[in-house]
Amino acid sequence: MENIKILLRDDEIPREWYNVLADMPTPMHPPLHPGTGKPITAQDMAAIFPMNLIEQEMSADRFIRIPDEVLEKYLLWRPTPLCRARNFEKLLKAPVKIYYKNEGVSPPGSHKPNTAVAQAYYNKVAGVKRLSTETGAGQWGSALAMACHMFGLECRVFMVRVSFEQKPYRRMMMMTWGADCVPSPSTMTEAGRKVLARDPDSPGSLGIAISEAIEDAVKGKDSRYSLGSVLNHVLLHQTIIGLEAKKQMEKIGEYPDVVIGCAGGGSNFAGISLPFVRDKIHGKQITFIAAEPSSCPTLTRGPFAYDFGDLAMTTPLLAMYTLGHDFVPEPIHAGGLRYHGMAPIVSHLVKEGLVEARAYHQLDTFDAGVKWARTEGFIPAPETDHAIAAVVEEARRAREEGKEKVILFNWSGHGIIDLASYDAYLSGQLEKYDLPDEEIQRALKAIEKFPKP
Ligand SMILES: Cc1ncc(COP(=O)(O)O)c(C=O)c1O
Repeated sequence: MENIKILLRDDEIPREWYNVLADMPTPMHPPLHPGTGKPITAQDMAAIFPMNLIEQEMSADRFIRIPDEVLEKYLLWRPTPLCRARNFEKLLKAPVKIYYKNEGVSPPGSHKPNTAVAQAYYNKVAGVKRLSTETGAGQWGSALAMACHMFGLECRVFMVRVSFEQKPYRRMMMMTWGADCVPSPSTMTEAGRKVLARDPDSPGSLGIAISEAIEDAVKGKDSRYSLGSVLNHVLLHQTIIGLEAKKQMEKIGEYPDVVIGCAGGGSNFAGISLPFVRDKIHGKQITFIAAEPSSCPTLTRGPFAYDFGDLAMTTPLLAMYTLGHDFVPEPIHAGGLRYHGMAPIVSHLVKEGLVEARAYHQLDTFDAGVKWARTEGFIPAPETDHAIAAVVEEARRAREEGKEKVILFNWSGHGIIDLASYDAYLSGQLEKYDLPDEEIQRALKAIEKFPKP
C-alpha cells in the first residue's frame, strides 16, 4: 500500500529555525525610523518588543537554535504530517503529484502558533507580563491567546470588526484560552477613536488593529506588542514548516518543482518556502508562488515602496510591496489576507524574481476549497483556498504543457470555524470583485512623500 502520510517521529523535529537573511543574494533595504529617515536601531524598537526578539529580528545567523521550552510546546502537535493529495490529483487529471503540509492540526487550527509559542516564550524570559496584538480572521489572536496562557502571560487581542462579527467562535476560543478580545476599531485607543469619528461603521482592517494594539502595549506596564506575520523573526519561526517538509520529502526521495503558499502578511508562505528558497539561491530550479486575493492585491498590483505597517504610522517604515497604509480592503471572508503590506523578506524575494505572485478571485478560491473538501475531506480555511486555487492552476498548466510536476503547498489552516464563509459561497452570496485602479491610486497618495527604496 502506498503511503499517503509522511510522518516524522517526535525526535526528528528540527532543532533550529532557518534565517534566509544569511543567504539573500542582494542586501535588503533596512527599516527606517520615520522621524530621522535613518535605519532603525534596536533601541528604537525596545518599547514595542523585548530585546531577545529584536536581536532575532536583526540577526544574520543562518540557523537559530529553538529553545527546549518552545520545542516542548511544539511537540503537542508537531511534527505535522506531510500528505499526498491522491484524490485531489485524480480529480484534476493532470501529471502532478501534490503534497501538502497540514498545519491545520495545531490546537487553534493553523500555522500561527509556530511563532505565537516562540514569541510568548521570549517575552516571558524577558520579564514581560502582558502582550497586545491584532488579529484578522482570528487565527493569530487565538494562537497567541493559547501561547500566552502556556507561558503565564496576559493577552489582549484587537480583532478586525468584520471578522469579529463573521467569526464569533474565534472570539470564544480566545476567551477559553484566557485572552481579552476587543472589536477594532474600538473606543479603547486614540487610534480607534479617530477612525470611528471619521467612519462609525468602519469594518476595520489589520492596519487599524495593529495601531490599536501597539498603542495599548506601549501604554501598559510590563507589556509589549506581538505581531503574527510580516517581520523577520515571525517568518524565521515559521521556517519549521519548510524544514520539516524537506526532511519528509527526503524520506520518500521527492523534491518539489513548485512550492505554493497563500500570502497575507507572508509568514506561512515564507514558512514553507524559505528552506527551499535557499536551494534556489544556490542553483536549484524551483517555482515559488505566493497566492493573494484579487481584492487585496499587494504583491501583484502594489508598488515596492517604503510604507508603514499600520494606519496610525507607529511602526518603522518598511521596504515592501504595499497598497498604502490607509487602504481598507473589502470585507472578504479570507480575513487573514486583508493586509495592505507584505513581509519585507517576501517582498524582496518577489522583487529579485525568486518568487512569483498571483492573485485569485474569491469565487475561484472557494470553488477550489469545496473541491478539496469533497476529495480530501478536510475543509480548508478561506485563506488556504487561495493556495489551493494556485495548485489547480499549476496542475492545469502541467496538463497543457504535458510536463510532470511535484507540487508542495502549505495547507495553512482548517476552515471549521469559517463555515459561515462557505455558507455564503454555497448560497451564491459572494461576488467576483476586482479592486478598481482608482482606489489603489487614491490609497498610494498617502505614501508619495516617503523615502524610496
Ligand atoms: C489559515 C491562514 N492562512 C494564512 C494566513 C495568512 O497569513 P500569513 O500570510 O502571515 O501566513 C492566515 C492569517 O490569519 C490564516 O489564518
